Amino acid sequence: MRIPSFDLEVFFGKYEFSTPYLLAQSDCESVSIDALLRLEPDAEAARREFLNTGLGYGENNGTPALRKAVAGLFENMKPEDVVSFTGAQEGIFACMNVLLEPGDHVVCMFPAYQSLYEVARSMGCHVDFWSLRQTENGWQADMDELAALVRKDTKAIIVNSPHNPTGFTLNSAQTAALCALAEKCGAWVFCDEVYRGLGANAAAGAAAPEPAEKEAPWVADVYEKGVSLGVLSKAYGLPGLRVGWLACKDAALREGISRYKNYLSICGATPAEALALVALRHGLELLAANRNLIQRNLAVADAFFARHAETFIYNRPMAGPIGFPRMRLQGSVGDFCETLAREAGVLLLPATVYGLDEPYFRIGYGRASFADNLARLEAWMTRKGLL
Ligand SMILES: Cc1ncc(COP(=O)(O)O)c(C=O)c1O
Repeated sequence: MRIPSFDLEVFFGKYEFSTPYLLAQSDCESVSIDALLRLEPDAEAARREFLNTGLGYGENNGTPALRKAVAGLFENMKPEDVVSFTGAQEGIFACMNVLLEPGDHVVCMFPAYQSLYEVARSMGCHVDFWSLRQTENGWQADMDELAALVRKDTKAIIVNSPHNPTGFTLNSAQTAALCALAEKCGAWVFCDEVYRGLGANAAAGAAAPEPAEKEAPWVADVYEKGVSLGVLSKAYGLPGLRVGWLACKDAALREGISRYKNYLSICGATPAEALALVALRHGLELLAANRNLIQRNLAVADAFFARHAETFIYNRPMAGPIGFPRMRLQGSVGDFCETLAREAGVLLLPATVYGLDEPYFRIGYGRASFADNLARLEAWMTRKGLL
């Protein structure tokens, strides 16, 4: 199968490690291996245990302990319902290849992280886009539009919630409606839930963040033909581990995916799976730290976008660490972001990498450097006479 370049990853490949002030990242603040192991009650014993991790092959579906810990994040999943992957990306690639065949009809949320529709399209599936819409209340999804796109022969509905790049999030009622639509025609629902775990963002000015328990259920928990994708890369801030997972009640699909994985990574990296287990033991702490950081950064962003309402439409994210504001400036947002990176060393992500020719850009709220980097953006735009 031939597949077009992954525009977002190509853009980051060019800028992420040469631009000092990152303001577009989707992964929250990270920690070192040492800091992770220090979360354990006996850090010295944890260090010794980690250093004794065997470097032989691991199990194809992930270690039983890891699958058990992942299953514990769900309401209705058992360890055998979980398959681990090298990052979420591998899970998307494997699942699409096993689930879909050339000619299948697929509906995918748009804009989207490219692999969510590109793998299907490259396999020869017919992909219709369910477009999120800019409204006065930020980005929203229209369930009637989805209903109009779903056909009797739709094989899969692919969604991402909380959403990259808009921060839109399906609520429980929308999740139920989505699954009911899919059930009517027997379609699968693939839900990329890699930004889960942080709860809804507290409203502007509200003191405490919403607790994570208020999130809509994982799709795999509530729909027989639901597949949920999770990962440690985003809300937990551990993308260097490259540990993700798929959960699904359908044993035949899981079996197919495991076999497909034999042509990809075969198994996860054993040191990464060992550290993933530690991270999940302390998952609530890691998530709470990043949730609080996002709330602090959103308060800074609230003030920035209020000061510059003539230049930007804020589109405050409903959940998760990223948002997708709109610029009211003339000219190409791609040129704007490239000039900004070159002249000020500040990185924003232009909508063009999502195949969108409109003046949106992605901004990330999950990093400790957010306020400083936003101040650099503001100073540069002021110098250029853009604010
Ligand atoms: C929606 C979405 N899904 C999947 C991925 C891939 O995640 P990972 O880096 O863990 O492979 C990303 C990464 O940006 C993403 O935004």
